[in-house]
Amino acid sequence: MSPHRTVLLLSGPNLNMLGLREPEVYGVETLDDHVAVATATAEAHGFELRHFQSNHEGELVDLIHAARGNHEAIIINAGAFTHYSWSIHDALAVFDGPIVELHLSNPERRESWRSTSVISPVAHGIICGFGGVGYRLAVEAVVELLSRR
Ligand code: DQA
Repeated sequence: MSPHRTVLLLSGPNLNMLGLREPEVYGVETLDDHVAVATATAEAHGFELRHFQSNHEGELVDLIHAARGNHEAIIINAGAFTHYSWSIHDALAVFDGPIVELHLSNPERRESWRSTSVISPVAHGIICGFGGVGYRLAVEAVVELLSRR
């Protein structure tokens, strides 16, 4: 375990394009803006937040493996991998702490193919549809889940 209590925030494909990407769906804030909110929320609760963004499935799998024993919880917005990445599902299943699935939009209100999440079966909870506020809510959710342990 790291000397600090840390939470890992993972961002999947295309989230590096936030701000430019379909602002009518995802808003005008950048990923850095959301990470700043998550970081400040974590610090207010005595946690350090580490963030990684990747457009590559295997890289996310490696980061999830490395989280075991190093981070207390994972918050993951897996982007489109949410809907079909069984390798991310399987990697998360090995993690031993709380997992919160996060989305800016509410996938249930969008195209039908977004209604399938392969992350949900291995997540403790889901935060979606609140835009950037979800980053604060997700950190608060993991703090709450960790306080119950
Ligand atoms: C998303 C929703 C996904 O369906 C989509 O592929 C994304 C972003 C969200 O944050 O709303 O990339 O995860």
